[in-house]
Amino acid sequence: MQDKFRLRIGLIGSGFMGRAHTNAYKRIGDFFPDLKYRPVLQAVCSRSPDRVQGFAEQWGYHSTETDWRTLVVRKDIDAIDISSPNDTHSEIAIAAAKAGKMILCEKPLARSVAEAQPMVEAVEAAGVQNTVFYNYRRVPAVTLAKQVIDSGKLGQIFHFRSNFLQDWTISADLPQGGEGLWRLDVKTAGSGVTGDLLAHCIDTAMWLNGGIRDVSAVTETFIKERMHQETGKVAPVGIDDACIFHCHFDNGSLGLFEATRYARGQKALYTFEINGEHASIRWDLQDQNRLEYFDHGDDSIVRGWRSIHVSDSDQPYIEHWWIPGVCIGYEHTFVHHVADFLKSLETGEACAPNFRQALETQKVCEAVLASAASRSWKDTGVAWSS
Ligand SMILES: NC(=O)c1ccc[n+]([C@@H]2O[C@H](COP(=O)([O-])OP(=O)(O)OC[C@H]3O[C@@H](n4cnc5c(N)ncnc54)[C@H](O)[C@@H]3O)[C@@H](O)[C@H]2O)c1
Repeated sequence: MQDKFRLRIGLIGSGFMGRAHTNAYKRIGDFFPDLKYRPVLQAVCSRSPDRVQGFAEQWGYHSTETDWRTLVVRKDIDAIDISSPNDTHSEIAIAAAKAGKMILCEKPLARSVAEAQPMVEAVEAAGVQNTVFYNYRRVPAVTLAKQVIDSGKLGQIFHFRSNFLQDWTISADLPQGGEGLWRLDVKTAGSGVTGDLLAHCIDTAMWLNGGIRDVSAVTETFIKERMHQETGKVAPVGIDDACIFHCHFDNGSLGLFEATRYARGQKALYTFEINGEHASIRWDLQDQNRLEYFDHGDDSIVRGWRSIHVSDSDQPYIEHWWIPGVCIGYEHTFVHHVADFLKSLETGEACAPNFRQALETQKVCEAVLASAASRSWKDTGVAWSS
């Protein structure tokens, strides 16, 4: 590999997403051999020296850091991967952009619009390539849904509805904050299910169906106090445990969204359904290789929901993997995202969603929370362009 095509990665965070992204960096050269650029696992940064060392050895990073400030200015790093909790994204991204590094950032872009806006300004001022891991766009069946919608087969869109349901925080004994449970601490996470789960639904929805104009939301925090792992004291819970909102899209369709961590039995039920004038589409993460499609134009004797197994070599991303008909999984969405990022370095185009597009999702999240707090409709201020 020529030096100029090395993309020396500095990964921050060695948890769930640190592993998912590293797996993608490791797989990419084998399955996307035509890409010019290749990731190099240059350094990983996490706060605990023992754990970061163990991670580096297990996954094959050349070096370690325990302070991201040192990592972002290292001359042997080309791209910073932000896979740490939400409260770190803004400060790291701004420092990395100032140091001239490309940035691959986890979602949500930040805890708030006020934190996200300067991130957009920083990457644009520095002229560095940037992307945000709204990875569900790159499930082949979801990418296919985009192609079907863009072909006009659905006609005028009337409805978009989406759920993201989990059940892992129902126990009142679960503490909040600290390693592993930062998602329950509003200071670190920024919000609960809105930024964590609905942000995915909103990104996918706007990508497929255009901008969300205004929202009316309700949120609930079912368990009001939890022990905080960092202080050992019982403290109020500031996150939304559940959120339901409805909205208008710019194209005149209505949206209905729900996310919760209190749907007993649901682990990660992420679904969406779009109803158009001529046809409808639905998708379910737990059967992620399938896209369901109903076409009212079909001959009535065979009209009904089709279940398309998105695994043929002419369907999105599939030619890079196995023989037609066998399945791929969750981890492949990150490989696809990294592949598209590396391709964007060749073409000079943006790797969607970039920071500016992810800011629009942040605006919707913020309007949803503001609407719930004020019990009123809120304009999102979104200016969407796919
Ligand atoms: N795209 C997705 O589907 C998806 C899924 C899960 C998480 N996420 C996002 O990824 C990010 C990380 O989530 P996760 O589930 O991997 O969390 P995690 O708790 O599993 O891992 C977070 C890691 O960051 C490290 N860390 C925390 N503060 C740090 C700091 N100041 N400097 C360096 N390292 C630090 C922790 O030690 C840990 O290794 C979050 O923003 C989250 O919203 C996205």
